Amino acid sequence: MNQRNEGQRALWRGKDILSVKQFDRQDLEFVMGVARQMREVVERVGTWELLRGRVLANLFYEPSTRTSSSFMAAMQRLGGTVIPISSVQYSSVSKGESLPDTIRTLEAYSDVIVLRHPEVGAAALAAKYASNPIINAGDGVGEHPTQALLDLTTISEELGQVDGLKIALVGDLKYGRTVHSLARLLSLYNVELHYVSPTSLKMPQSVVEEVAKTGTPQHEHEDLEAVLEQVNVLYVTRVQKERFDDMALYERIQGSYVITPQTMARARQDMILMHPLPRVGEISMEVDADPRAAYFRQMRYGLFVRMALLSLVLGRQ
Ligand code: NCD
Repeated sequence: MNQRNEGQRALWRGKDILSVKQFDRQDLEFVMGVARQMREVVERVGTWELLRGRVLANLFYEPSTRTSSSFMAAMQRLGGTVIPISSVQYSSVSKGESLPDTIRTLEAYSDVIVLRHPEVGAAALAAKYASNPIINAGDGVGEHPTQALLDLTTISEELGQVDGLKIALVGDLKYGRTVHSLARLLSLYNVELHYVSPTSLKMPQSVVEEVAKTGTPQHEHEDLEAVLEQVNVLYVTRVQKERFDDMALYERIQGSYVITPQTMARARQDMILMHPLPRVGEISMEVDADPRAAYFRQMRYGLFVRMALLSLVLGRQ
């Protein structure tokens, strides 16, 4: 292990992962490198006792399949154990317990806490009350930093590099937290960003302004056709039904962009199609067999990235 890597490892120990804003390019390259090692471990031997005896509290106030189970799998593949709390209605949360108290409780039993919560800033609030690392697994419409790290890893591993790419983020850019985090992360690279959405679901101005500070070119479109033939990455998202007050508006907008084999026929041969999942009709199942459909491989990168993050914040490498 070289000295620079040792320095990096020391920086990660005990750290919260709350927002992608805390990362620079060096951090990202480092995490992706550790994730690559984790992939090798999983593919060669399946498990590694690196986190034996360590306990993860997995606290989910919002629905999740991939994020919660990949953190559990990551911890278990590294020999650790998990306290899974995903039915908060059966926990003391339903008795009215506050987030700080629930966090203090779980901190008494665990070494690291993964939190998904409907309110922006919930993970940061939890971090104030916990001395153990808090990992933000989605805070309302705010951020989803570990998803952005796995998305970046997917792009880098599948296309060999991130610099020089044209990337389109498509769908619900207003409420989709994955794209808020991903646009910020990508702005650390030399990319061209294209935001494709209905006018009512545009990328928030706050994100656009932050990205603009890095000098990253950003373009907004309503029509996917405007960019379909040029982009290297098409990142499609679900319209976030649970964030809508007006269901009639949701019904009108849902289905605005549907990727079919006909769409893919016009896209570049060397592009990749991504989606954080779950999909609810944005990508037709006939596209799944297309080698450019990267969304199932994307989930697998999530396992390796989360193994990397857990081992780093727990200081075990
Ligand atoms: C996303 C989320 O929860 O923000 N899912 C995920 O973590 N892979 C995307 C979504 O729910 O649409």
